[in-house]
Amino acid sequence: MKKAGLLYEGKAKKLFKTDDEDVLWVEYLDQATALNGLRKDIVVGKGALNNQITSLLFQKLKDEGIESHFIEKLSETEQSVKSVKIVPLEVVVRNIAAGSFSKRLSVEEGTELAFPIVEFYYKEDQLDDPFINEDHIKVLGLADDTDIAEIKKLALRVNQVLSKLFDDVGIQLVDYKLEFGRTKEGKILLADEISPDTCRLWDKETKAHLDKDVYRRDLGELVPVYQEVLTRLKK
Ligand code: C5P
Repeated sequence: MKKAGLLYEGKAKKLFKTDDEDVLWVEYLDQATALNGLRKDIVVGKGALNNQITSLLFQKLKDEGIESHFIEKLSETEQSVKSVKIVPLEVVVRNIAAGSFSKRLSVEEGTELAFPIVEFYYKEDQLDDPFINEDHIKVLGLADDTDIAEIKKLALRVNQVLSKLFDDVGIQLVDYKLEFGRTKEGKILLADEISPDTCRLWDKETKAHLDKDVYRRDLGELVPVYQEVLTRLKK
């Protein structure tokens, strides 16, 4: 397989075409952003760590019967994925109150939720990814009832697998964001990445942040923390 032209450059990844129209080439970048790109820094080593963590997690999900767009890791910073049309939704699953949930609803960070909740945000940079509900999704034509039900079901199955996986290595999966795509045949497929950039991960004992909040909240160095997550997952 050969890498071809640049298709899209995001905040943390570049997406290239390949000589196979069904396969895309992803390159993870050494870039950290916050506040919807207003704050931006080069963090050497972050791309490689997120590529490795995402590859490992997508493989573990596959082993548990949850398909994703991931095909294989190509290098330290690159992976091949199935070409899908991304559904413009950020699907957030929360197990423990934190971040925007705590702020908006005034629930103390760390409060365990009675059950995992699924939230939808409209993936639209110009609008700052607003919080939306299922009616909004349907009225905007982003997904129909069947697709929404499938997305919720998959998001919660991912939660079961990943919560256990992280728990086994002493990490609480507080919340995370998923994205989904549609294949040529119209099938909904888990896509994008799952990494400390897109998850809140707390050490079970110390409650230390092992995720991008270290950058967002200026709590220290990002790379050693991401490395710690990878090291634990590889055990
Ligand atoms: O900020 P908020 O509390 O809504 O984030 C919930 C989860 O979704 C966090 O794990 C965060 O890392 C992730 N997220 C993301 N990309 C965004 C917004 C949130 O990965 N654009």
